[in-house]
Amino acid sequence: MAARREKGQSLRGSRIAVAIVIGVLLGCVIAFFFPHGLINPTPSSQNRRFGKSNFQIGSSSCESSERIKMLKSEIVSLSEKNSELKKHVKDLTEKLQLAEQGKDHAQKQFLVLGEQHKAGPFGAVKALRTNPTVVPDDSVNPRLAKILEEVAVRKELIVALANSNVKEMLEVWFSNIKRVGIPNYLVIALDDQIVEFCKSNDVPVYKRDPDEGVDAVGRTGGNHAVSGLKFRILREFLQLGYSVLLSDVDIVYLQNPFNHLYRDSDVESMTDGHNNMTAYGYNDVFDEPAMGWARYAHTMRIWVYNSGFFYIRPTIPSIELLDRVADRMARQQNAWDQAVFNEELFFPSHPGYDGLHAAKRTMDFYMFMNSKVLFKTVRKDAKLKKLKPVIVHVNYHPDKLRRMKAVVEFYVNGKQDALDPFPDGSGW
Ligand SMILES: *[C@@H]1O[C@H](CO)[C@@H](O)[C@H](O)[C@H]1NC(C)=O
Repeated sequence: MAARREKGQSLRGSRIAVAIVIGVLLGCVIAFFFPHGLINPTPSSQNRRFGKSNFQIGSSSCESSERIKMLKSEIVSLSEKNSELKKHVKDLTEKLQLAEQGKDHAQKQFLVLGEQHKAGPFGAVKALRTNPTVVPDDSVNPRLAKILEEVAVRKELIVALANSNVKEMLEVWFSNIKRVGIPNYLVIALDDQIVEFCKSNDVPVYKRDPDEGVDAVGRTGGNHAVSGLKFRILREFLQLGYSVLLSDVDIVYLQNPFNHLYRDSDVESMTDGHNNMTAYGYNDVFDEPAMGWARYAHTMRIWVYNSGFFYIRPTIPSIELLDRVADRMARQQNAWDQAVFNEELFFPSHPGYDGLHAAKRTMDFYMFMNSKVLFKTVRKDAKLKKLKPVIVHVNYHPDKLRRMKAVVEFYVNGKQDALDPFPDGSGW
């Protein structure tokens, strides 16, 4: 029994030791996981996040509550910064997504247009420059659609805008068109007098209904809104599926221009240039001696296209061009339509700007001749004098009617000295 008691005593002793060890361990564990006690609320998670967990909340110290305020404002400003950063990241992500969408869109468009191909061998690849034409939409202007059906030949025609101020030039204009035998041309009359004048001369004429949308712009808009009218009217011709050879009235027709077009580009235009370089483009070197070794900067130059005589095909890039020019004419004071036309056609895409992707072709400057080429060069050159241009545009000179008549005398009636009385330039 004694032995049993002994045994039982030592057993009880070791139990107590185990209990103490467990108690100590439990205490350590609680101390580790709940350093501020089991009942005390833990300090705010933000405190810990910003490395302030060491801070002890004093029972009622003024200094501590000041610090709490400071910390709180710090927390607020930090979380504000955080949300700003988040917003910035969100903006960037959105921009990136938009760009990606654009890429997707372009890729999809491309896939609709045609199959993907491998590039051919060196020298055998050619990019697309003849864009597909739009599907004609007669609902845009059924009355005009009917007129065009009668007037146009192979879905193309010459179009000129005219009001009473240019009546005499208009007469020279259509007389020569008739003499050459061009059937597909149309005058857009801007007033009733021109309607009557055309009708009495058997000239195809179209006057817009004053209540039609585009003309409301012309009536209610200011001067600069009206100068965009030409491009807005042209848009309808393209929407109806026609190619237009837009023509000013200070132009003498000597051959049928439709026999001299390439029709491979969205815009095929006559140039204001006067030789190979200025008409077709050249490397113009800009010199800045202060730069020493790098003093020469190479630039590209080309004389502008003449927005008074161009052939435009009914394609999406062409219509976009007309829209862009009309839009800028409506919004920009004192904008010159020819400058705007060229800027839209030639300036490339850059940050904040999407350039137009239209195919363009410069017409032969001897065949589609401006009056500078005629009076400065051609009339003085025995060989060039014998060449018969398709048209002559009296764009560089003010006494237009007299020069137009002289051009007719020279080229049509063979009067060799008809051009002699005129100075090279305007004479003032
Ligand atoms: C202009 O270019 C044409 C053809 O591109 C060429 O035949 C002619 O010789 C050139 N004229 C001059 C003056 O370089």
